[in-house]
Amino acid sequence: MTDLKDVELILRTRTPLIAVETREEHRAIDLFRRAALGGGQPLYRWSAVDGLARLDLEQAPQRSLAEPDRLLAHIRASQGGGIYLLLDFHPYLDDPLTIRHLREIAQRDAPAPTLALIGPRVPLPDELRNLSARLELRLPDLAAVRTIIEEEAAAWGQRHRRRLQARGAVVDALARNLLGLTAADVRRLTRNAIHDDGALTEADLPALAQAKYRLLDSGSVLSFELETAGMADVAGLARLKAWLEMRRAVFVADSPPPGLDAPKGVLLLGVQGAGKSLAAKACAGAFGVPLLRLDFATLYNKYYGETERNLREALATAGQMAPCVLWIDEIEKGLADDRDGGPSRRVLGTLLTWMAERVEPVFLVATANDVESLPPELLRKGRFDEIFFVDLPARDVRAEIFAIHLDKRGQPRGGFALDALADASQGFSGAEIEQAVVASLYAAHARGTALADADLLAELAGTRPLSVLMAEKIARLRAWAAARTVPAD
Ligand SMILES: Nc1ncnc2c1ncn2[C@@H]1O[C@H](COP(=O)(O)OP(=O)(O)OP(=O)(O)O)[C@@H](O)[C@H]1O
Ligand SMILES: [Mg+2]
Repeated sequence: MTDLKDVELILRTRTPLIAVETREEHRAIDLFRRAALGGGQPLYRWSAVDGLARLDLEQAPQRSLAEPDRLLAHIRASQGGGIYLLLDFHPYLDDPLTIRHLREIAQRDAPAPTLALIGPRVPLPDELRNLSARLELRLPDLAAVRTIIEEEAAAWGQRHRRRLQARGAVVDALARNLLGLTAADVRRLTRNAIHDDGALTEADLPALAQAKYRLLDSGSVLSFELETAGMADVAGLARLKAWLEMRRAVFVADSPPPGLDAPKGVLLLGVQGAGKSLAAKACAGAFGVPLLRLDFATLYNKYYGETERNLREALATAGQMAPCVLWIDEIEKGLADDRDGGPSRRVLGTLLTWMAERVEPVFLVATANDVESLPPELLRKGRFDEIFFVDLPARDVRAEIFAIHLDKRGQPRGGFALDALADASQGFSGAEIEQAVVASLYAAHARGTALADADLLAELAGTRPLSVLMAEKIARLRAWAAARTVPAD
């Protein structure tokens, strides 16, 4: 509805050139058709394949005008006004003669025609910029997306003579997931989701999120992580879990209840191997939303010199995937404090601005284990909702980590002396405990016997955990964290 008003408004300003950047060519043509009808103006459509055709009179196309030069000469020679929709004209904007032609037409005294250049990207050269306006087609809002889903569900029901199974809550979640896409894409993805099994269920959501991500992804600074963990895969971190649980409902709500700020993100600081990356993944699982990972190393390597623009685009994509969790692992590596004003300074600036200004529900989870190279700006109050310190696991948590990893490998926890294992693994990180389970399974396998406590205990006794090798570093980290962070467990 409002799109039509935009088009009418722009036509009324008599701007000679309109750049319409959209993947929805049909919709753009239709909008101009309706606007032209209202204004009583002739409407033409041109493409390099069909040539020029008058749309409002449904005349046959003039193939002889398929050449861009000929077309422009024709428009220049014609006396009347009219609206010309030029489809995919952008490749010809490289040619100085074409640009001059367009300029002549655009600068003509009234009645000047209006040329609308419609394409996925319409980069206008400087010579034309001040003679032009840009038109962006709006994307469907939540209500419009819902309507499309309901239309598709009804159409399916008619074709199969039975009602489509879809719970209201699932339709809501689906609609939220499909925000940020064009109407045509919403329709196509909904149709796919319905057609595989004649139902819309929670099980459709991850695949839809992934399909949507593929449509939006501009480069590959962001990756879509299929494998999210659940909180049940994480031992300990009770405080972090409770914190997330308390905010889950608000995060996925369409709008936070009055007085509550939407949760923005957490920084997980801590000891190596203590489960920070695992917990970051589990945040997405806990919220039940897609997980996107932002990789700074790719950002710097692949897009040398274009890092900020690519970061901005990646953050915008995350916004379109909202609600989602955006995970930046080892954030200190990308933002190391370089005092020369190099790229990482500017990347930090871009990130901080986004953190302060974003409105979409994108929950940022950053992890770090080296506080000394973290820029202080990032730690200032208000950037993250909370900074959690992930320390080495306590005794009961170690028992649970053994249990989780034994279960995972087909060794039911009931068959092991978890208390003794927990005692013997004092100072071990979660990663080291997992490693001990893996290694002792190998030992048992080589011997041809079942895994026993003794194998695990022997493996632990033979390992010097990092906490011993790096005792001083960990002590410094703990001292630093004590004053500035909240324990995650
Ligand atoms: N609390 C835990 N519960 C269950 N498994 C754990 C836990 N902590 C660590 N692990 C196991 O150890 C593996 C490695 O942990 P993870 O990579 O999350 O640690 P990290 O803190 O990110 O380490 P780093 O600082 O080296 O990146 C995890 O994939 C998981 O299998
Ligand atoms: Mg990690």
